[in-house]
Amino acid sequence: MHLGRTTLSKFLIQQLQDVEDQGKLAALLVDVAAAVKAISSMTAKGALGGYLGTVEHTNVQGEQQKKLDVLANDAMVTATEWGGLVAGLASEELDEPYVIPENFARGPYLLIFDPLDGSSNTDVNVSVGTIFSVLQHAGTEQPATSDYLQPGIRQVAAGYAIYGPATMLVLTVGKGTHGFTLDREVGNFILTHRDLAIPEDTSEFAINTSNARFWEPPVHRYVTECQAGKAGERGRDFNMRWIASMVAEVHRILMRGGVFMYPKDTKDPSKPGRLRLMYEANPISMLIEQAGGASSTGRQRLMEVQPSQLHQRVPVILGSRNEVLRIERYHAEHE
Ligand code: AHG
Ligand code: MN
Ligand code: MN
Ligand code: MN
Repeated sequence: MHLGRTTLSKFLIQQLQDVEDQGKLAALLVDVAAAVKAISSMTAKGALGGYLGTVEHTNVQGEQQKKLDVLANDAMVTATEWGGLVAGLASEELDEPYVIPENFARGPYLLIFDPLDGSSNTDVNVSVGTIFSVLQHAGTEQPATSDYLQPGIRQVAAGYAIYGPATMLVLTVGKGTHGFTLDREVGNFILTHRDLAIPEDTSEFAINTSNARFWEPPVHRYVTECQAGKAGERGRDFNMRWIASMVAEVHRILMRGGVFMYPKDTKDPSKPGRLRLMYEANPISMLIEQAGGASSTGRQRLMEVQPSQLHQRVPVILGSRNEVLRIERYHAEHE
């Protein structure tokens, strides 16, 4: 029964045939999928698992950690540190990169992740996710923080898991973006969404409008035109969504198009945006581009931003290509 289905491992072996170290990259992604299954099981138990609520610790972003932030982080570390596949790990929930213990071999990859994205939503039972980025590490030395600071275009794989009504894994190794659905009875991820393609045009946008007073003029202009609907510049009505879980917004955009913005604003001048470059914006941008969409800071292609810090933030504007280009144009016209 079901034996003809394409499992994650089968798919990866096929996709990575001509890639150096292909077995290692496939094995790493399968280890990440193992962590995702563990996190999926914890998030699905909700209050019955005793997993809801916060812990005392505050992360490097100044956010009070949820219990699930910590447990999801531990799941990713435990699933990947032992296999001889990674040279090091970095996470939203770890101030410094994780050093692979002496008794485990180091491998050719750096794995950077947001263990639980949208964690403000755990206590209200809204979809959350895990985001990950895979970079290469040259040499056999223990990686320094500077080794992680590679632009998004250097990613060899990226993906996210979404813990919604169904748990899905969406990933790319640079050959399109593909979605897998967790068959909970069998415990396998099954290819259900091959070659995702984002429509070039859309009439749906996503932005936290409570920040409107802090936006820059180009973002104001774009959103105001959308809100004006048929009567305005755009000549058609727009719909708006805001879930406050980036993975959930991105998943919707991969399924039916749309544009997502967490732009630069003036709320806190020390922060150039809300989202984190290395473990949120870069991996999501690779998935979006591989599905035919675009991802920008408003001023440049997001994956070309040269990182200077592991936990740095960045403005994000991504999704349906023509809308992202329009918003970039509004920025250029304003400069
Ligand atoms: P995280 O839970 O990993 O810290 O990330 C939350 C992010 C992202 O998922 C979402 O798009 C955004 O924060 C929501 O921000 P607001 O609370 O400002 O809506
Ligand atoms: Mn957080
Ligand atoms: Mn996040
Ligand atoms: Mn997080």
